[in-house]
This record gives sequence, structure tokens and C-alpha cells, in this order.
Amino acid sequence: MPALRIEGYVIVSADGMLANADHVMPDDLKFEGDKKFFSAALDRADLIVHGQHSHEEQPNSPQRKRVILTRTVAVLAPDPTHPKATLWNPQGASFEAACEAAGVRSGTVAIIGGPAVFGMFMDRYDTFWLSLAPQVRLPGGEACFPGVPERSPQEILAAHGLKPGEPQILDPAADVSVTPWRGS
Ligand SMILES: NC(=O)c1ccc[n+]([C@@H]2O[C@H](COP(=O)([O-])OP(=O)(O)OC[C@H]3O[C@@H](n4cnc5c(N)ncnc54)[C@H](OP(=O)(O)O)[C@@H]3O)[C@@H](O)[C@H]2O)c1
Repeated sequence: MPALRIEGYVIVSADGMLANADHVMPDDLKFEGDKKFFSAALDRADLIVHGQHSHEEQPNSPQRKRVILTRTVAVLAPDPTHPKATLWNPQGASFEAACEAAGVRSGTVAIIGGPAVFGMFMDRYDTFWLSLAPQVRLPGGEACFPGVPERSPQEILAAHGLKPGEPQILDPAADVSVTPWRGS
């Protein structure tokens, strides 16, 4: 049993985008029900991992331990701007070394983007929580995973051995739901 449980979180448009053509997550993709679900999950996580532009910016964020991917450091370093954050260059140190530097040896790690970061962990997710906003389209936007839109986000998760569970409705008016994709 690995000591670290890896969970992914993203909300995507009908066309598989996590941000618009300006690399910004638009208000169209923000829903109260999904925000509550995401925030509660991050409150339970022992560590959050993301790229430089994917900070969740929630009220509880300063309390959360995090590892931020960046090429501005060679290996690992404390983040001078975010309390409880460790900067990590995966070229210089393993994921396990990054978790160790953050003081986390066991528990749940939440991977929250962006696309390249999701892609790095694709063979390691215990569960990937895929939120879908089917009424939103972001043509020319930023795809949630490497390989989208040639393949759908669901096809990519399935190709990595993950299987969909029962969807949970997060916003009935907008048809927004979250589906857990679980590994074996
Ligand atoms: N809809 C959603 O659920 C959701 C989820 C996540 C993000 N988003 C949005 O999507 C956009 C994501 O932005 P983004 O594509 O720029 O992704 P990002 O991964 O947040 O940021 C990219 C930066 O992270 C660092 N990085 C990423 N991969 C790295 C690697 N393998 N090695 C070293 N450094 C690495 C680099 O930082 P340096 O430049 O410092 O080297 C890179 O410039 C944002 O607008 C965000 O709000 C939406």
C-alpha cells in the first residue's frame, strides 16, 4: 500500500478546456457547487501540488501545505512568497523528495493542474475527480490534459486504466457534475 494517495481535480468545459484562449479560467467555468466540493477536498488533503499559474486562491489557502512546480529553481527551495509552500523542479528532484521537503510522508496529495502537471501524474492517480460543465464551450481554449482535444478527457483517463464511478450533481441548473475516475 503506497503511503501517498494521489487525487486529481479539474473542472472542464464540454470541449475539454480548463481555461480560455488567454490561459485564464473564466467566470463561465466557476460554479458555487463545484467551488464548495473543491474547497472541501483541499481542506482534507495533506498536500497540494500545482504549477505556477494554478494556485486555487481560496480563503483557506494559506493554511495548506503545497508544492509548486517551477523551472526558476534547480531542485527544491522554500517559496519566499507563499507560506507552507515548497518550490520544485522535477528535473532536479523526484516527487517523493518534493513531498519529503514539504514535510509530507503519508496521506492524500491533491494534484490541481495545470495541464502539464496533470499529465505528469496520469499513471499515478488513485482517483481523478473530473468535474464537467456541459453547457460551457471554450473554443481555442487551454486543454485540460495533454492530448485533448484530439481525444476527450474521459478517453485519456480511461486509456490510463481509470474507470468512471457514479457522477455527483454539483449544480443542477447548469448540469454540472463530478465523476470519480478510479484506478484499480
Ligand atoms: N478549470 C480548472 O479546474 C483549472 C485547473 C487548473 C488550472 N486552471 C487554469 O488553467 C490555467 C493553467 O495555467 P498553465 O497552463 O500556465 O499551467 P500551470 O501548470 O499552472 O503553470 C505553468 C507553470 O508551472 C511551472 N511548471 C509546469 N510544469 C512544469 C514542469 N514539468 N517542470 C517545471 N515547472 C513546471 C512553470 O513555471 P515557471 O514558469 O515558474 O518555470 C510553468 O510556466 C490557469 O489559468 C489556471 O487558472 C484551471
